[in-house]
Amino acid sequence: MATKVIKGGTIITADRTYDADVLIDGEKIVKIGTNLSGDQTIDAKGCYIMPGGIDPHTHLQMPFMGTYSSDDFDTGTAAALAGGTTMVIDFVLPGPEGNLLEALQEWFQKSGKSRTDYSFHMAITGWSERAFNEMPEVVNRGINSFKHFMAYKGALMVNDDEMFASFQRCAELGATAFVHAENGDVVAQLQQKLLAEGNNGPEAHAFSRPPEIEGEATNRAIMIADQAGVPLYVVHTSCEQAHEAIRRARQKGMRVFGEPLIQHLTLDESEYFNQDWDYAARRVMSPPFRDKLNQDSLWAGLSAGSLQCVATDHCAFTSEQKRTGIDDFTKIPNGTGGLEERLPVLWTKGVVTGRLTPNEFVAVTSTNIAKILNMYPQKGAVLEGSDADLIIWDPKAKKTISAKTQHSSIDYNVFEGMELTGLPRTVLSRGKVAFDQGKVLAEPGDGRFIEREPNAGINKALSTWKEVVAPRKVERKPEHMPYGV
Ligand code: URP
Ligand code: ZN
Ligand code: ZN
Ligand code: ZN
Repeated sequence: MATKVIKGGTIITADRTYDADVLIDGEKIVKIGTNLSGDQTIDAKGCYIMPGGIDPHTHLQMPFMGTYSSDDFDTGTAAALAGGTTMVIDFVLPGPEGNLLEALQEWFQKSGKSRTDYSFHMAITGWSERAFNEMPEVVNRGINSFKHFMAYKGALMVNDDEMFASFQRCAELGATAFVHAENGDVVAQLQQKLLAEGNNGPEAHAFSRPPEIEGEATNRAIMIADQAGVPLYVVHTSCEQAHEAIRRARQKGMRVFGEPLIQHLTLDESEYFNQDWDYAARRVMSPPFRDKLNQDSLWAGLSAGSLQCVATDHCAFTSEQKRTGIDDFTKIPNGTGGLEERLPVLWTKGVVTGRLTPNEFVAVTSTNIAKILNMYPQKGAVLEGSDADLIIWDPKAKKTISAKTQHSSIDYNVFEGMELTGLPRTVLSRGKVAFDQGKVLAEPGDGRFIEREPNAGINKALSTWKEVVAPRKVERKPEHMPYGV
């Protein structure tokens, strides 16, 4: 196999910044050092070399709210590569009857045209013996995360009893539980109340999902996860109330992770008050964009380490699809795009402003995600032996975001007009140049499914864990012994 060497750049990882060359043989990084040579040389002078971005949260060609999200594994992963992301993790949606393996087969078919590597999370949208029985095989196939929607009542939502049952099964299997944390019962009632009062526009979407609803559900999911003894990953954490719950749980020693989206970090609720219906509806997603104080909380969480990953929740709908809800905001398909913009926007609004260090940037866009999802150091690292998923990042490059030049299939961009400083110049995916100087070179089908191992030894209730760590002699009456020890 011909070798490549990336020369003259500065390597940035989650914990180090240093000048070195990177030698790639086939799909792997084989050596990092000085004065290396290979069959082909890629010049990285003036650039940073970072691990490829991993997006832990996408919905490509997903059936949702009466339609399918517009970007599929072809256009979605082209957008990903153009923005420096070399791997996406998409959500498989079985029905409430628990046909997990059937649904997985369907997602494998859709992902056949992925240009980047990919993995899946399996959703649990109802609790059944079938789901219970099929979960181990899902884990055997390299998927160690199960997603639960606490919102979308009447569609994807699960109740607390279903969630607790599934969380306990996740704990047995060494899987991590994921939640979309919003109180779906209260959202459904607020939606009806707002409609009855004549509030049918996109701004009512935000009123129907206040931060309290997310904070409550996040707290509830954390409590249920602790009782089940399962690590918990909270997707699209958008407000201080949810962040506070996660922070407090982590402080107690619980394994709880939080994931702000690039949209929530940089776009605020004023977007919904735009007089142009289309403009506002295009930004309808759940949870909705928040105010500046909530945004500050998310930025603080990323630098403090109480929030670990930045995702997109890429779920793109065209303006025409959004217009399904022209008379009723509850029918506007929920979701926004961001796969191409996540890294450049985070760099511009985070690193250039000094809110994040370049190392923190790498941690929250790649390394932390690979670690939490059990892919490190195959992914998320610039190390000898790691997959050669690399970005050559030009910190001086500039661009203005425009739907006219994007790779996503939709007709607008929620970041339209934003000026970027810092862009990927070249992106390598398992050693192949997948994007270079504005052009996506990877083909549909170049991506590979990446298997993820179950968790090792961390699926235990905190209360049980404490007794193992610090055994003590306490006289207790049998009725006060919840674990029967
Ligand atoms: O509005 C959103 N976030 N749409 C995608 C589905 C989900 O809830 O993640
Ligand atoms: Zn969600
Ligand atoms: Zn507000
Ligand atoms: Zn989502």
